[in-house]
Amino acid sequence: MVDARLEPLLALHRAGRLGEAEAGYRQCLAEGIDATLPLSGLLLQQGRHAEAAGLLEPVFAAGTHSPDMAVNLSIALRKLGRDADAVRVARQASTSAPERPAVWNALGLAALEAGDAQTALAAFGEGLRLVPGNAALALHRAKALRRLGRPAEALPLLEQLVATAPDLLEAWRDLTTARSAVGQHAAALDSATRALQLDPHDPDVALEHASALMHAGRTGEAIRRLERLEGKAQTWMWLAQARLRDNDVAGARAAYARAAERDPDNPFVKHFLAAIDGDLPTEVEADYIRKLFDDFAPRFESILVDGLAYGTPKLLAQFLAANGVTGARQVLDLGCGTGLMGVELAAPGRMIDGLDLSERMLAQARAKGIYRELHSAELLQFLRDTPRRWDLVLAVDVFVYVAHLAPVFAAVHQRLEDGGHFAFSIECSDGAGTQLLPRTGRYRHAPEQLVRLLADAGFTAIRREPVTVRFEVGEPVAGELLLARRG
Ligand SMILES: C[S@@+](CC[C@H](N)C(=O)[O-])C[C@H]1O[C@@H](n2cnc3c(N)ncnc32)[C@H](O)[C@@H]1O
Repeated sequence: MVDARLEPLLALHRAGRLGEAEAGYRQCLAEGIDATLPLSGLLLQQGRHAEAAGLLEPVFAAGTHSPDMAVNLSIALRKLGRDADAVRVARQASTSAPERPAVWNALGLAALEAGDAQTALAAFGEGLRLVPGNAALALHRAKALRRLGRPAEALPLLEQLVATAPDLLEAWRDLTTARSAVGQHAAALDSATRALQLDPHDPDVALEHASALMHAGRTGEAIRRLERLEGKAQTWMWLAQARLRDNDVAGARAAYARAAERDPDNPFVKHFLAAIDGDLPTEVEADYIRKLFDDFAPRFESILVDGLAYGTPKLLAQFLAANGVTGARQVLDLGCGTGLMGVELAAPGRMIDGLDLSERMLAQARAKGIYRELHSAELLQFLRDTPRRWDLVLAVDVFVYVAHLAPVFAAVHQRLEDGGHFAFSIECSDGAGTQLLPRTGRYRHAPEQLVRLLADAGFTAIRREPVTVRFEVGEPVAGELLLARRG
């Protein structure tokens, strides 16, 4: 029951007369009338999250809050970046008022922000059980599925949502993202076009549309649209990518240079400018690699394995077996990613350790339960710092991100047991040296050069096998598997 003195203030609030409503709410509070909930709502509405939290936290601590106050507090804490507190508050509300859909929504959003998409998925599911078809909950559930790397499951939810709420811009935008994540580029362009019709003036929607055009193969149109958009760094980066697809390397360089003016520390811009200029960076580009794979992690297996028939870990396992390398007990998987190599090599009595720069890739490897130890580390640094030794060291599809391999080979040699093996895959350059391709941003190495570097590092019994390491735009990419022994 709302106190009668609050009614006119709520009417002012609804009419957008926020200053008057706020003054009234505060007067009520001074007179002992509980205006905490509407005042907190007003503060959130104005982005005054710290003030909202300051108002609600004492009430929550005293246990005199309503479920809606807990929801508002959870929102304020989430917006302040206090994710663990936001989850705690929403979880408590979901225990005390499980019949309220809003508490499940708050718990799901807080968990998503805290990086716990599994809890978020369950929370949105609970909310939807109470109000089937609720648009916000369905939208958020689809987001959780995408975070979990399950975009294919998000698709039907989003398709149903746009069918029932055809003006819901966020649903069309998320549908675009989910469709492109599963490689449905023509359909992604349809939803991006619909989103653009709904809001032709939102620069992010326009950028998503241009990117959908590019991925649907309509490069020329994508370029024309990107050239007309206001130039945020991201816009220039998409334009550069589109121009590269159009074989306009000078135009791509100019676009990356504009991106660099806006975001000089962006590791992607630095990497691709180096690629275009033919400079091989001297240092490992740890920030670039970490960000690339943290972003890619949720989609890595569905895109590579299901979409692009990525099979290098299996090929490497067969290559090892064919060369009699079958009995390794201590294995180190450099750049283990989501653990696909571990899956191939797991065997009773074998200990497999892994390392990777990307925490999100490591989380998936951890979930497979195959690795003994997993380290969040840069491989060269790790090899130089560790006192341990292994009898098999592997790097599958990793050296496409590393320009200079001589120091890596020397460090691996140091960490191998006598008689131990080192095996890895590469993409082959079409010259005598290493190339950094502007279009893909991946390094290609010359196998003959690597054989020399392996020998220089002290390796013997070097074996090579040509393989197709991946497909790019339907074309096989030539690579090699290499194997070498210490001693
Ligand atoms: C294409 S994935 C391959 C993952 C896994 N080896 C496989 O075959 O499925 C490349 C992985 O190498 C990691 N990586 C690349 N360079 C690295 C470095 N210098 N140190 C540690 N990890 C690195 C990336 O983070 C990414 O997870």
